[in-house]
Amino acid sequence: MKRIGMLTSGGDCQALNATMRGIAKALYNMYQDEVEIIGFIDGYKGLMYEDYVKLTPLDFAGILTKGGTILGTSRQPFKLMREPDANGLDKVEAMKTTYRRLRLDCLYVLGGNGSQKTANLLSEEGLNVIGMPKTIDNDLWGTDTTFGYQSAIDVATNAIDCIHTTAASHNRCFIVEIMGHKAGWLTLNAGIAGGADIILIPEIPYDIENVVKAVKKRNKRGRGFTIIAVAEGAMTKEDAGMKKKVYKKRLEEMHKLYPSISYEIADQIKAATGLECRVTVPGHMQRGGNPNAYDRVLSSRLGTYGAILFSKGEFGQMVAIKDHKITSTPLSEVAGKLKTVPLDNDILLEAKMLGISFGDE
Ligand code: F6P
Repeated sequence: MKRIGMLTSGGDCQALNATMRGIAKALYNMYQDEVEIIGFIDGYKGLMYEDYVKLTPLDFAGILTKGGTILGTSRQPFKLMREPDANGLDKVEAMKTTYRRLRLDCLYVLGGNGSQKTANLLSEEGLNVIGMPKTIDNDLWGTDTTFGYQSAIDVATNAIDCIHTTAASHNRCFIVEIMGHKAGWLTLNAGIAGGADIILIPEIPYDIENVVKAVKKRNKRGRGFTIIAVAEGAMTKEDAGMKKKVYKKRLEEMHKLYPSISYEIADQIKAATGLECRVTVPGHMQRGGNPNAYDRVLSSRLGTYGAILFSKGEFGQMVAIKDHKITSTPLSEVAGKLKTVPLDNDILLEAKMLGISFGDE
């Protein structure tokens, strides 16, 4: 009997269930009755505190199209993993004990950056771990794309589409704030798909003068409205030059006046142009709802490969997609790295050719 553990960790996204289903279906096909799958509740918490459910093939039926996660999830920061919990429990040892007590042959970790760091830690501690690349941010190193990302682009694009019609009717400037504190993939792609005129992402620090210039240029051309897609982590050139601590302080000050950077930008545009500038934040809607067709296929493919890795005994890997081929990257290479938008990224350069302003010039 093969005994498999699964958990979903960190922020949820649209294709977690589809990915678990992909792994499970492939495993059941390979091993029939000779496989038992255990699902840990609320991510690593379930592994720490032995909170789990035994899953059957029926549990994986009908979940391909369902957003969220049937196992629940939670954020268990990597930096706190080596710190004991409130009752003095050694979290890493507790997770290893659960794994061993349940006589698991493998643990699948569906998660983003922090979760894959912990997956790597557990792998280094001797557990058989396979990572599955999740996040709407698409900022995981070692894979071209992550599941959840394309579905989130659809949601964010839809938000921009909805804003477009009302912005045009009222001749207003509108900012749509897109998720992504450190990486601008989602904002860049949804921005282009939604026809945004200005896109601000963390990788390209902006100068508010340039943003205002782009708004005025549109107005001069007779376009009364402007759509700006702003990533949560967008920053000014000045911000980018600050030491981490100073930047943190600057954000604290900013948050006393505004809920987020988008509101500051809106105020600055209004002051400089006299135009009405509104902010819309689709927020967690971007992680919600059902996975789109692309993600359903991707998750099924990634899940299948996850089962293949298990059958070959190849652990300490994260399943990945590179150049349209499903493959894997060692967790040790994934851990601790961030995949941000490179400045020579094709889509970025093409967007510039379309006349989209990034506020940098
Ligand atoms: O990592 C995914 C993500 O949705 C980010 O885009 C966003 O900044 C963050 O999670 C929000 O986290 P939380 O759900 O904990 O508020």
